[in-house]
Amino acid sequence: MSQSTSYRSHLCGRIDESQIGNEVVLCGWADSRRQHPNATFIDLRDHAGIVQVVVEPTNDSAFSVADRVRYEYCLRVVGTVRARSGSQINERLATGKIEVVAWSVEVLNASASLPFMLDETPGEEARLRYRYLDIRRGAMQRQLRLRTRLVQEIRRYLDAQDFQDIETPILTKATPEGARDYLVPSRVNPGQFYALPQSPQLFKQILMMAGMDRYYQIARCFRDEDLRADRQPEFTQLDIEMAFVREHDVQDRVEDLIRHVFRTVVGVELENPFPRMPYSEAMQRFGSDKPDLRIALELVDVADYVKTSDFKVFSGPANDSGGRVAALLVPGAATLTRKQIDDYGPYVARYGAKGLAWIRIDDLAKGREGMTSPITKFLSDDALNGIVAATGATSGDIIFFGAGPYKIVSEFMGALRLAVGRDMKLVQDGWRPLWVVDFPMFEFDAGENRWMSLHHPFTAPSIDDVATLKANPGDALSRGYDMVLNGNEIGGGSIRIHRPELQSAVFDLLGIEADEAQVKFGFLLEALRYGCPPHGGIAFGIDRIATLMCGVDSIREVIAFPKTASAQCPLTEAPSEVPEKQLQELSVRVVRKEK
Ligand code: AMO
Ligand code: AMP
Repeated sequence: MSQSTSYRSHLCGRIDESQIGNEVVLCGWADSRRQHPNATFIDLRDHAGIVQVVVEPTNDSAFSVADRVRYEYCLRVVGTVRARSGSQINERLATGKIEVVAWSVEVLNASASLPFMLDETPGEEARLRYRYLDIRRGAMQRQLRLRTRLVQEIRRYLDAQDFQDIETPILTKATPEGARDYLVPSRVNPGQFYALPQSPQLFKQILMMAGMDRYYQIARCFRDEDLRADRQPEFTQLDIEMAFVREHDVQDRVEDLIRHVFRTVVGVELENPFPRMPYSEAMQRFGSDKPDLRIALELVDVADYVKTSDFKVFSGPANDSGGRVAALLVPGAATLTRKQIDDYGPYVARYGAKGLAWIRIDDLAKGREGMTSPITKFLSDDALNGIVAATGATSGDIIFFGAGPYKIVSEFMGALRLAVGRDMKLVQDGWRPLWVVDFPMFEFDAGENRWMSLHHPFTAPSIDDVATLKANPGDALSRGYDMVLNGNEIGGGSIRIHRPELQSAVFDLLGIEADEAQVKFGFLLEALRYGCPPHGGIAFGIDRIATLMCGVDSIREVIAFPKTASAQCPLTEAPSEVPEKQLQELSVRVVRKEK
């Protein structure tokens, strides 16, 4: 028997009618066992699928082993493939036309009774604690395998384009990407710490200075920040950098890459080229720097109609250059109950809203008498008519209003747009990629009284002249760009600063003093002095792309061993305390904070 010389000859899910009459050796888990008087049926499962194994009483020893088999026992079965008779065919099973008559059943390992059934979706804590059981489930198997295909196709594409796959250090120095660092104490250098990289940003720039020309890495990044559905403390980037490029060279190349992976991994043809939208337009129309274009609702500015109103909530921001009065027309939303409408108030409050005004248009022909609203009493006929005309509202619609500082109003109305869009089932099917470009270089943080960068501080400004930049930092756009897909930021990058004097000027504007810049980034400033080529790049969130491809709602679904919202691993129970001796070796002392 040639097959029986290998431990396993076939995969359970791959056996079909062409193997009828053949002997097979299968390994897997008992998905179920049914005892009939004249046979025991075991559904044997591996990653490829399920096949029915029949153990007949005439086969004494196999029959008695089969009798002991329980849920999730790990088995090895030797048997012969035979056709099922007509009435026995199971159309729902890929292998439903055949079964395997066992002549040997071996229990490779018994299983304790499971904390949950594999066809249920238990709570997050249980899923992560028993991740090895969770991953046995079909959905997780498909998700992790799809992710593998994604990474394979990324490599295939970039290798063919002469990108070099280069690893960069994990024990390194801080790279600012806007989060806190994870620190690692150095035993041999007491009192000194490595930082885990928030991204390989500075190393990839240095590789361009080193003449590597095109670099990529599937890189692990570490950021100590508050976690959400699309954020993990360690996550994976596809990190890319190219020398001698402008924005379009990078964007066109990676756009083609993203089209390639969607085509090959999930059979989706994305549009060509992706549309581009300036940041200011994205905020104006969608209240977001990552607009979900699948929802056709847009914000409309109505400040002009309420400037002279006595309603200070509206007229205040309408007359303030830093203010905004935005309306969101939701067609057909008059079907929402009063409670549903009221519930959006606390929802937008989380984004900083002080209130959420609305007008329900029951009958447009009746003018203000045909409207239900907490605010029409404050608005003149002219204002109402203007707002109705500007939004295009008609009977059966609701108009929501946000008023206040520009950024806050944009953000909470943007969040409202998504929530109402989902609740009203206005999210269209399909894939809507988008480049968001022309970000401001700096934003003034009034609280901290200083300029902040929207991307990291190595992003080049559109103004190349140091004196002009310093004179009007608020006017400068950055040469950064984000790739957005269905309302998710899947990638972000920029053309970099490649001249030392411009880099120093940007540090200076960001309030990073010269000696601080020297301590933190001296090596970069020095490297810039030795003939640094113009360069730029981008990084994609692989976890986020895989999440979208799988159609799941959290990146934890495509990461084998993710952390919980409190950055813990229920499987290994990390993080954990360490023995005093280990701390001493590291010259570290734990100081417990008073609660
Ligand atoms: P950025 O910080 O925008 O850019 O990160 C790039 C992409 O990585 C993904 N991402 C995350 N995914 C999961 N969990 C997180 N905590 C997380 N943070 C970011 C996002 C994001 O678009 N060095 C620059 C890139 C460059 O300039 O080339 C950088 O890291 O999808
Ligand atoms: P008030 O006069 O505060 O009771 O507000 C009247 C209506 O305006 C209520 O429906 C509030 O929710 C709404 N409102 C208050 N502040 C704002 C704001 N900043 N933006 C939009 N609507 C608001």
